[in-house]
Amino acid sequence: MSDVNTIEELKKQEEYMDMLKDILFMRYNNIQPKAHVRTYGCQQNVADSEKIKGMLETMGCVLTENADEADIIIFNTCAVREHAEDRVFGNVGELKALKRKKPSLLIGLCGCMMEQKHIAERIYKSFPYVGMVFGTHVIHKFPEMLYNAVTTGKRLVERGEDDGKIYEGIPMHRDGSFKGWLSVMYGCDNFCTYCIVPHVRGRERSRKPQIVIDEAKAMIKSGYKEITLLGQNVNSYGKGFEEKTSFPELLKSISEIDGDFWIRFMTSHPKDASKKLIDVIAGSDKICNHIHLPFQSGSDEILKRMNRHYDKEKYMEIVNYAKKKIPDLSLTSDVIVGFPGETYEDFQKTLDLIREVEFTSLFTFIYSPRVGTPAAKMDDPVPYEEKSKWFSELLKVQEEIAAKRCAEMNGKTYRVLVEEQKKDGILCARTQNNIIVEVSGSEELIGTFQYAEVTESRNWILRGKLV
Ligand code: SAH
Ligand code: SF4
Ligand code: F3S
Repeated sequence: MSDVNTIEELKKQEEYMDMLKDILFMRYNNIQPKAHVRTYGCQQNVADSEKIKGMLETMGCVLTENADEADIIIFNTCAVREHAEDRVFGNVGELKALKRKKPSLLIGLCGCMMEQKHIAERIYKSFPYVGMVFGTHVIHKFPEMLYNAVTTGKRLVERGEDDGKIYEGIPMHRDGSFKGWLSVMYGCDNFCTYCIVPHVRGRERSRKPQIVIDEAKAMIKSGYKEITLLGQNVNSYGKGFEEKTSFPELLKSISEIDGDFWIRFMTSHPKDASKKLIDVIAGSDKICNHIHLPFQSGSDEILKRMNRHYDKEKYMEIVNYAKKKIPDLSLTSDVIVGFPGETYEDFQKTLDLIREVEFTSLFTFIYSPRVGTPAAKMDDPVPYEEKSKWFSELLKVQEEIAAKRCAEMNGKTYRVLVEEQKKDGILCARTQNNIIVEVSGSEELIGTFQYAEVTESRNWILRGKLV
């Protein structure tokens, strides 16, 4: 919650930002310094990077997409799988040459990887040109850390303890002008046995409903057409409030704000997804008919060992209820292949579930052991090569389903939000159920709602025309 301590803390940080305005300006020869923030990982990190960018702008920096021209580089890292971490290690290695060319370059690493002691230590030792290492729990102190780094010239590492607080009012630079993220809660209490997130993001805490609703109102007023509500498990929103507000209630309140806009949300944990949630989605045309509902595995035995607190039957119950209530519903999901001890028979149950639900798309991962999680200590006899084969089998099954789902959309007309223009001039427009339709049209349509008739479906790419 935003309390006296957090308000005072942020006031202090404002003073640091104020001082840094002059200090940075002089350090970079009386030119506004350029700052580059690169984000790895999920939307939680994207939202955090928007705060880092907001603070950098308040310190007088201009943001750049080009690391080569930057005076300050911040990498906001993800720890969810080994591959994600390897990419960061590789990319940080590449910064060495930039630092050699420009000794005044300030490099900082933050985010989920840095909340792991062994990683923070490895980074500090391996990359002496990295000046600041800080974790997710202390990003509100970024101005103070930058001030100390600049004024002392010393390298610093800050990995705070999770203080369970929410720091409301950190400046924010939103990346998009018509699609925006809105965090409703932080952290995770679920401790799925494979997952590092609760270890690096701390305990679950929800922002007050009125603060979230006011922020949504302000976004809509300034022209946002799509707001995605964010949390690792939005369905447990409001835990610990004196006056309980559930996620469906929050969702409903936001959908009742005046204006023409869409709402999305992620992520829903199946154990807490209620019929009330489905009814609220079904009852509003502003809430997109798309639910991201990660099932992870179709085998009850594996789900139990993942500590997911639902079985296939419970998952299918909510899916079938949602399909019945929400017309044109699109379901997407996350799935892990090769959890420790998973057999080929378990894996077949995952394929069965995929065939039964017919997801429009899937985020698919091969299990990656994470230091400090219970699953990393479980027996894992199936070799990686075998898991890769299963993985390819899964992709093939899903590709056929996605193609079929897309083909069903052929000939129909949908309301779409035009998102971007590709290099060949074609516009990409997204339907409520989260499918892209490619259409011809002028650039001015970006950020507006239109209607598109689907005229052609090729695998999972849809072509259409504006009507
Ligand atoms: N809070 C969300 C997921 C956040 S992490 C939820 O519970 O659904 C995003 C996805 O990464 C997870 O859904 C899971 O499929 C995958 N994931 C997490 N840890 C993983 C690991 N150790 N190995 C492989 N995939 C993992
Ligand atoms: Fe990880 Fe599970 Fe929390 Fe999702 S719900 S972030 S998978 S621990
Ligand atoms: Fe990665 Fe952290 Fe998100 S570990 S998936 S960036 S919460």
